[in-house]
Amino acid sequence: MDVFSARKVIKEALLHTYGTVYEYDVCFVLKYCFGLSSCWAASTDIGDIWVQKVARDIRQGIPIQYICGIEEFKGKPFLVFPGVFIPREETEDLVDIAIDAVPRGSRILEIGVGTGVISISLLMSRRDIMAMGVDINPLAVINTFTNARRFEVDSRLQLYHADVFSLIEMPMSFDFVLSNPPYLPDSDRLTIDELVSKEPESALYGGFTGVEFIHKVIDILIKTGFHGGLLFEFDDTTQHYLRSHEKMSVSRVKYYKDRFGKERFALVWL
Ligand SMILES: C[S@@+](CC[C@H](N)C(=O)[O-])C[C@H]1O[C@@H](n2cnc3c(N)ncnc32)[C@H](O)[C@@H]1O
Repeated sequence: MDVFSARKVIKEALLHTYGTVYEYDVCFVLKYCFGLSSCWAASTDIGDIWVQKVARDIRQGIPIQYICGIEEFKGKPFLVFPGVFIPREETEDLVDIAIDAVPRGSRILEIGVGTGVISISLLMSRRDIMAMGVDINPLAVINTFTNARRFEVDSRLQLYHADVFSLIEMPMSFDFVLSNPPYLPDSDRLTIDELVSKEPESALYGGFTGVEFIHKVIDILIKTGFHGGLLFEFDDTTQHYLRSHEKMSVSRVKYYKDRFGKERFALVWL
């Protein structure tokens, strides 16, 4: 099938599932599912069966990042395994804040690495730091390890497959904590977007109001005598629940907006 016809088939499939088609998504599929260097590589021939399979997967509501196995993050193609949280673009802003906020020579702990985009991007920008990452999802740990090798930062990233709430009580040393934790309220399960529902539940829901997970992280860090920064992402609609924790209402907390103007990140010094 020529590229023109493949574009048409993919566009129709995207329109069927999403109701609208963005040129970016069409190009994304052509680039990462069919390996085209350009969206308009007119002379290239793509196997019919392959195009039909991708179109079928799109129509079935499988996210294109799972179909192609890639998501771009800060301009770099990260591998995304089905069953692992798909990185969101606003998380790039968390990395930018971290690049400025993490003190020189720090050893960071990332809670919930997913595909590894946060730690790996930070390690690529800041050669002076080391990182440890933990995730309860074994696929996420393998996914992060693969990406760390891909971007050659694996020698500075130690990974653990564990529940952070058991790991954090072990004698480990770190002086800055980063997380894009599960933060949706449990009630969102009833209204969740069909595409988002394809992602693992453990990556999405943070408890009854959504902030219980991060509150528990704060409590456990305090209990272990941690002194340092904690930078994390949250859902702006839950901010008032977030502030109900005594550590989140003091003046030492700095809130940041994301690129869409939503209050999305908090940096607290414990
Ligand atoms: C919202 S995703 C963020 C993934 C990645 N950091 C990113 O920003 O794309 C949250 C991650 O936390 C992990 N997670 C959930 N509960 C956890 C726990 N108790 N211990 C460790 N990781 C956990 C999930 O498996 C998931 O990978």
